[in-house]
Amino acid sequence: MTLNTDKSPSVTDALNTRITCRDFLDTPVPDEVLMRILNTALRSPSGGNLQPWKLHVMTGETLTKFKATCVERMMAGKQEVPTYPAYPSPLWEPQRSWRYKLGEDMYAKIGIEKDNKMGRLAWLAQNGKFFEAPVGIIITGDKRLEQPQYMDIGILLQSIMLLAREEGLHTAPQGWWRNWSSVSQDLLDIPEEEEVLVGMSLGYGNPEHKVNDLYADRASLSELAKFYK
Ligand SMILES: Cc1cc2nc3c(=O)[nH]c(=O)nc-3n(C[C@H](O)[C@H](O)[C@H](O)COP(=O)(O)O)c2cc1C
Repeated sequence: MTLNTDKSPSVTDALNTRITCRDFLDTPVPDEVLMRILNTALRSPSGGNLQPWKLHVMTGETLTKFKATCVERMMAGKQEVPTYPAYPSPLWEPQRSWRYKLGEDMYAKIGIEKDNKMGRLAWLAQNGKFFEAPVGIIITGDKRLEQPQYMDIGILLQSIMLLAREEGLHTAPQGWWRNWSSVSQDLLDIPEEEEVLVGMSLGYGNPEHKVNDLYADRASLSELAKFYK
């Protein structure tokens, strides 16, 4: 499916046309558009109205430096301990298979075979460049947050993602930034009591890049919901 770059006229359209965009054009996002998205996203609900999020929004030179620092550290092979692991380990079925299929479907789109480990690693490293997006966001939260507050963070992410579609923009939520939190800690103004929870790329999606043709599978409603009458 080709990337839809129209402005979404409805929430339904925004949900249906949102994908995790993994290649962006370098077209800048106008400040007023970015501010509109972020200001509106702050209307997201949170348990007890805690609003447990802090946003670090990067563009321009700061973003360039941030990406360069991350790439430098990746090249140096400096693995860090993630603030949180991405998934439970070991992962069970059917989630294990769903995760595996997502990866295989993505690499098939861009023609990187299973035995091309270096190719796959290089592609993964695109995370560290915010997939070339002109806006990179790091979301931090207090280390004392409890699990319910992570739900709030997810709601904020979804708000940004849907509002971005309304502006004709695309996004990529990136847990990956938890793996390289030293970059955020060293270059952003993050107090000691906070940690990196998630990141996000935002910009105009590149409809020419095959990776953006991926429209990830979903399980059916009957697999995931039980109805009680
Ligand atoms: C909280 C969160 C973190 C994610 N982290 C990453 C990431 O670090 N890198 C990446 O390429 N995709 C990441 N994804 C994208 C998921 O892989 C994607 O949402 C899922 O495969 C469904 O595909 P879709 O978003 O294109 O519909 C993340 C998604 C969420 C919701």
